[in-house]
Amino acid sequence: MHVTKPKLSWLEDPTVFAVNRLAAHSDHEFYSAKTGKNSLKQSLNGTWRVHLEPDIASQKLDFIRPDFDFGRFDYIQVPGHLQTQGFDEHKYVNTQYPWDGHEELRPPKLPKKNKIASYIKTFELDHALKDKPVHISFQGVATAFYVWLNGHFIGYSEDSFTPSDFDLTPYLVEGQNHLAVEVFKYSSASWIEDQDFWRLNGIFRDVFLYALPKAHLADIHVTANLASDYETGIFELKATVTGQTTDNFLHARLLDPDKRVVFETKVPLNQMIDLSQELSQVAPWSAELPNLYTLELTLEDKDGAVVEFVPEKVGFRRFEIKDGLMLLNGKRIIFKGVNRHEFDPKLGRAITKEDMLWDIKFMKRHNINAVRTSHYPNQTLWYRLCDEYGIYLIDEANLESHGSWQKLGACEPSWNIPGNLPEWEPTCIDRANSMFERDKNHPSVLIWSLGNESYAGTDIAAMGDYLRHKDPTRVVHYEGVTWNREFDYITDIESRMYAKPHEIEEYLQNEPKKPYISCEYMHAMGNSVGGLELYTKLEKYPHYQGGFIWDYIDQALYQKLGDTTRLAYGGDFNDRPSDYEFCGDGLVFADRTISPKAQEVKHLYADIKIEPDETGVTLTNDGLFTNSADSYFTARVLQDGKVVFEKDYQLIVLPQESKHFDLELPLPKTGEVIYEVQQHLAKDTAWAKAGFEINFGQTVSRYALPEFKAQGTPKVAMGDVNIGISGKNFEVLLSKDKGGLVSLKYSGQEFITRTPQLLFWRPMTDNDRGCGHGFERAMWLGAGKFAKVVDLQVASKEHAVEVSYTYELPLPKQATVQVTYLVDGTGKVNVSAKYPGYPDLPSLPTFGLEFKLPAKYDSMTYYGRGPAENYLDRKLGARLGTFTTTAKDSVASYLVPQETGNHCDVRTLVLTADKELGLKISATKHAFSASLLPYSTMMLEEALHQDELPPMRFAWLRLMAEQMGVGGDDSWGAPVHEAYWLKADKPLELNFTLEPLN
Ligand code: GAL
Ligand code: MG
Repeated sequence: MHVTKPKLSWLEDPTVFAVNRLAAHSDHEFYSAKTGKNSLKQSLNGTWRVHLEPDIASQKLDFIRPDFDFGRFDYIQVPGHLQTQGFDEHKYVNTQYPWDGHEELRPPKLPKKNKIASYIKTFELDHALKDKPVHISFQGVATAFYVWLNGHFIGYSEDSFTPSDFDLTPYLVEGQNHLAVEVFKYSSASWIEDQDFWRLNGIFRDVFLYALPKAHLADIHVTANLASDYETGIFELKATVTGQTTDNFLHARLLDPDKRVVFETKVPLNQMIDLSQELSQVAPWSAELPNLYTLELTLEDKDGAVVEFVPEKVGFRRFEIKDGLMLLNGKRIIFKGVNRHEFDPKLGRAITKEDMLWDIKFMKRHNINAVRTSHYPNQTLWYRLCDEYGIYLIDEANLESHGSWQKLGACEPSWNIPGNLPEWEPTCIDRANSMFERDKNHPSVLIWSLGNESYAGTDIAAMGDYLRHKDPTRVVHYEGVTWNREFDYITDIESRMYAKPHEIEEYLQNEPKKPYISCEYMHAMGNSVGGLELYTKLEKYPHYQGGFIWDYIDQALYQKLGDTTRLAYGGDFNDRPSDYEFCGDGLVFADRTISPKAQEVKHLYADIKIEPDETGVTLTNDGLFTNSADSYFTARVLQDGKVVFEKDYQLIVLPQESKHFDLELPLPKTGEVIYEVQQHLAKDTAWAKAGFEINFGQTVSRYALPEFKAQGTPKVAMGDVNIGISGKNFEVLLSKDKGGLVSLKYSGQEFITRTPQLLFWRPMTDNDRGCGHGFERAMWLGAGKFAKVVDLQVASKEHAVEVSYTYELPLPKQATVQVTYLVDGTGKVNVSAKYPGYPDLPSLPTFGLEFKLPAKYDSMTYYGRGPAENYLDRKLGARLGTFTTTAKDSVASYLVPQETGNHCDVRTLVLTADKELGLKISATKHAFSASLLPYSTMMLEEALHQDELPPMRFAWLRLMAEQMGVGGDDSWGAPVHEAYWLKADKPLELNFTLEPLN
C-alpha cells in the first residue's frame, strides 16, 4: 500500500519504522553496459541546504514545497553529521540514554528537545536516468526521516545504518526537482540505538538516485559453498527481476581468479531466477587466500543488446559448526579480531574510502584477521574491501538497548526493550532483514550478530530464527544471553565480553557444547593491552576460537580551542551527562596514528610463531591454508645489542606444521648473545610492500651484564653540607641534606638540576583508575616524594668512595630504603637503590629514581626492549635491540595523559644532547626499566588532556628496577594480573653506573 500522507505519530510508534520503503536488496552494482561506468546511478552527495528547529513544537513543513524560498537555509555537506558541521552539539554517553537526568522517560517516549533538521536538495535528472523508473537510496540517516519530492510525500524510515530506498518515479518532473528530507534526532528507534558512541545524526552516508533499465536485477543472492570434500564448489544464484522479462535473457558467466570462464549459461528471463552448478576444484576463499571469482550477469534482449550488466565478486567457502567447532573450509578457525566503529576525528561516522583503506591495511599489517562491525552494519564498501583483502566479519545488526536493562553496572531489566514485547519485534526483524539482504553476498561475512547489549527475550530470539531460516551458510551470534541464560538457544556460539582468562578456561575445560569466542576482550583504553598472551594461550583448547579486541580506534573529535586543535572526548563540549574518556579505547588513536599497543597485538596475532635457538629456528605455522612460501626469513645474531650476523633464508613450513630448520648460526665468544629471526613479505601485496616484517622471534642465548669495577683514586672534599668527589675531568657533589646527587659534572658540563627522587608511583592509567588502584596503593604516591633522609654513611672503598643514604618512607609502618652512590677515580658513579621488601603493604606501582635533567638531553639511545613502549605484561611484541628515540616521541598521546614511554629490560642507555657530552647509563646486576619524557610523573598524573601539559622544560628520566604491568582485562575493575605485580614483600634493586660519553 502506498501511503500519501505522513504522520508525526510514527516517530514515537515502534511498530512504524518504514513507510513506502522498498524491499531491502543486495548491494550489487549495476550498469547499462559492460563498460563498468555506471550511467544508471546519479549521486546526490555534495552540498545540500539545511535548517534546524529545536523541537517538534516548532516544526515547519513549508520547506517541502517546490516553490519554497530556501535562501535563508544554511549549507551542509552530505554525507555528513549535523554535529560535526556545527549544527548541533556533540554528546558522548555510553550506556545511559542521552536524555538521562534531563527528562524522565520510558520507551517509546521521546525527549521534548528533539531537533529537526530540514534538508533540501534540488537536482535535475542526468540524461541516462530520464524516462525510466527512478529510485532514491539513502545509505544511512540517523535516526528517523521523512522524504518529499516536489511537495509529494515519498516515505519514512528508521534504522540509521542500513539503506532506505524509495520510488520517486511518479513525482519526478522535467527540470529542477525539489527533494525535502526531514531528519529527527530522536525517534522510538533511539531506544534501540543506545550504542556506546558519540550521538551523531543527520544524513551521514551516501545518497543516490538510480534508474531501472527495462529489465532489472533487483536482488541477487549468490551462494558459493563447498561440498563436503572442500574442493567441489556449489554455486547457486537466486535473483529477483523487475521490469520486462518476456523476450529477454539472462546471460551468466562465472570467471575464476585467473579470469577463465568456469561456468556459462543463458536462460530466458523470469521474475525469479534460480541457477545452480557444481564446479570441480574451486579455489576457496579465506582471509589467508582471498580468492575471488567474478560473476557477470548480463540481461540481454532478443537481439543480444545489453539491457543491464551486473558484475559481482564471489568467494567459495564453507562455514559450519561441526562437533561444537566453527570450521572454515573444514578447518578450525581462530578469530584474531578487533571490534571496529566507523570513525574519523573530523567526520565522525561519515568515514571516507581513504579511512577504510587505511584501516584494512593496518589490520593486515598487524595480523588481524577478523572484525566485528560493532555495533551496526557498516558502509557497503567495507564489505567489499574485506572480501578483497581477506578479513572475516561478524556483521552486527543495529540494535542496542543497553540503558534499558543495565544501570550503574547492575542488571535491572524491569523495563528492558525489546525483551518479549510484541510491539518491538517487527522493527528488530526488519533490522536483521535489512542487514541480511544487503550483505548476504559477501564471503567475508561468516557470522550474523543480532546486536549488542540488549539483554535477551523473544524478540531477539525471533531475529535469530529469521536469519537461520534465511541463511544456512552462516551462524548466529548474540552475547546478551550471558545475562539471561533462559535464552541461551538464541546464539550458536558461546560468546562473552571481558571474561577473564580463567573464566574462559573453566568453560573450555568442562565439556563445552558450543564454540567459544570473546566478542569483546582486552579493553584497549589508554595504556592497556597487558596480558594479551593469557588469552592467545587459550588457543590450545579447540573450542577457543579467538576474540575481538575492544576496540580498533579511539572515538575522539577534533576541537578548536583558541589557535590549537585537540582531540576531545566526552564532556569536552559541555555535553552532560557524559561518560568522558570512555570513548577512547583504540589500538589506533582517533587521528589514525598507531598506538604502542598495536605492537603487542601484531606479534601475538601472527600466524607463524618463530623460536630461534643457537642452531637455527623452529617455525610453527598456525595458518590454516597457506605455507610460508610468500615469506623470507632473516636470521640475525646480536652481540651486546649490535648485529654481528645477518642472512636471509627461504624456509617452508606448511599450514598447521611445526618444524625446526638448521641455519648454522655463529655463536660470538663474548658478551650477551641474542638470536633473532624475522619473517618478511617476499612480494608486494595490496597491503604492504615486499620486505615488510610480519613477525619476529628472539632468544637470549647468553645473558651478560657488565660488572662495575672501580678504578683510579678519587679525591674527596668533605664539606659541612656536601661530599665532593673529584678527579680528572669530573666532579660529583653528594648533598647531606638533599639526600643524593646535587651535581654531576663531566668536563665541566652539569647533568643534574635537582637531586634524583625516589619513585614508587607511576602516572595512573585508565585501567588503574577503573580498578581502584589509587585507593589501594595511594600510600606509594607520596612514598618517594616525601621520603626523608635518616642516615648517611661515607666509606672509603678500594678505588672509590661510597656514600650511602637511608631514607625513611612516609608509610603507616616503619620502612626504609637505601640509596648508595659509589664514585670511583675515573668519574664513574655506580648507583644502587634497594627496597628490602616489607610484608603487609600493597604491591608497588614501581620502584626507582626519577631524574630531572636539562632539557637538552632530549634524545636517548638504549639497548633494551623497543621500539614502542612496553610493560611487564605487554612486552612480547617488543624486541631487544638498540633503538634511538626522543623525549617527545616517547609520549603516546592517550586521551587522558597517563603512564607512558616505558622500556623494559634495558641494558644500556645513552642520553645525548646536540653536540655536547652524553651520559651513559649501564645496568649492573639487573636490566632495568626506563623512560625519557618531557614530563614528570606528577605532571602526567594531574593532566586530563594532552594540551594541559606544558612545553618541555626538562628531560625527565625514570630508571626503575621494575614497573608493574598495565593490565587490560577491562577498565572498570579488573586489576593487573598478580603475576605482573611488584609484591611488597619482595626486595627490589635498581643498580646502574653513570659515566660520560663523548
Ligand atoms: C562493552 C560495549 C562496548 C563498549 C565497551 C566499553 O560493554 O559493548 O560498546 O561500551 O563495553 O568500552
Ligand atoms: Mg553498550
